[in-house]
Amino acid sequence: MAFSHMPVLLAETLEALAVKAGGFYVDGTAGGGGHAEAILRASEPDGRLLALDRDEAAVRRVRERLQAWGERVQVVHGRFSEIAEWVSRFGPGPADGVLFDLGMSSFQVDDPARGFSFQSDGPLDMRMDLSAPRTAAQWLNEEPESEMARVLKEWGEEPAAKRIARAVVARRAERPFGRTSELAELVTAVKGGRRGRRIHPATQTFQAVRMAVNGEMEQIALGLEAALRAVRPGGRVAAISFHSVEDRLVKRTLGAHVPRWESLQEGGQRRHGRLPSVRWVRKKPWVAGPQECAANPRARSAKLRAVEVETNAA
Ligand SMILES: C[S@@+](CC[C@H](N)C(=O)[O-])C[C@H]1O[C@@H](n2cnc3c(N)ncnc32)[C@H](O)[C@@H]1O
Repeated sequence: MAFSHMPVLLAETLEALAVKAGGFYVDGTAGGGGHAEAILRASEPDGRLLALDRDEAAVRRVRERLQAWGERVQVVHGRFSEIAEWVSRFGPGPADGVLFDLGMSSFQVDDPARGFSFQSDGPLDMRMDLSAPRTAAQWLNEEPESEMARVLKEWGEEPAAKRIARAVVARRAERPFGRTSELAELVTAVKGGRRGRRIHPATQTFQAVRMAVNGEMEQIALGLEAALRAVRPGGRVAAISFHSVEDRLVKRTLGAHVPRWESLQEGGQRRHGRLPSVRWVRKKPWVAGPQECAANPRARSAKLRAVEVETNAA
C-alpha cells in the first residue's frame, strides 16, 4: 500500500457531529477507520460507535484497528442505506450522530486488483462490495449506449459523454472490455490526449462508471433518509462529499427536510418540507484549509455538510 488513508476534515467532522462523552455514533463509511477512531477518542470514556462498510476488506481492517476499544465499538459489513435497521439491531437507542464520508478510500483506489484507478492497470472491477452482481467490465460490455451516455454526462459531468459511449459500444463489439487500461486508453483517444488538462482525461468516466456499478446516487439518497430516521431529536447527520454531483445530492436530500413556511391569506402559516425536520448546523459547508490541502490532496475537493434533527415526529 502506497500510503494509508488520511481522514479528511477530522476536527470539523467532530464539531459537525457535536461528539460528546457517552454518545452513540454511527460511521456509515468506516473505510480505514480514521474518523471512527477519532469519534471513539472524542466520546471517551463511554461513547459507543457502530461502524459499517460495504467492503469486507474495510470491515476486517477497521475491526483490527479498533479492537482495543472493546465493547464500545461494533464493526459490521453492510450498506448505509440499511443504517436504520443496523441501529435498531445494535444501538442502545437512536443515534446521536451519523457520518458519511462518501466515495472510495485510498485502500480501494491504491489496489490495482480492485480496478478503481486509471493510473495502474488492473481488472475492470470497481465493486466496493465484492458480492455485488455486476463489475465495471460487465457494465461497460452490456449497458445500452444511451443509458451509458446519460450516466457519463450526469454522474461524471463528462462533456464528451456521447462520443465516449459510442466508442465503448463500437469497441466492445470487437472485443469486450476487461482491463482498466483499455478504458483509460479509449477515453484518452476519444478526448484527444491530456493536452494541458489538470486532470487525467478518464477521471470523469471512471467516476461515473464507479457510481453506476455501486449504485452510489441511490445509496446516498437512501442512506441520508435512513440516517435522519435513525437519530434522536437533537442528533446530527453529517456528510463529506468529494465532487459536485455528490454534494448537490447531499444538499438537496438534507435540504428537503429544512422547513419552509408559507404565509396564508386567511392568516397563519403552512409548513413545507419533509419530516423529520432539520436545521443546517452551518449555512456554508466546511472545507479544508490550505495546510490540510497541502498535506492531503484528496481534501481539496471535500465539502462537509451537517444538519441537526429538530423533531422526529411524523
Ligand atoms: C472515503 S472512504 C471512508 C474513509 C474513512 N472515513 C476513514 O477515515 O478511513 C469511503 C468508504 O465508504 C464505503 N462505502 C461507500 N458506499 C457505501 C455504502 N453504500 N454503504 C457502506 N459503505 C460504503 C467504501 O467502501 C469506503 O470504504
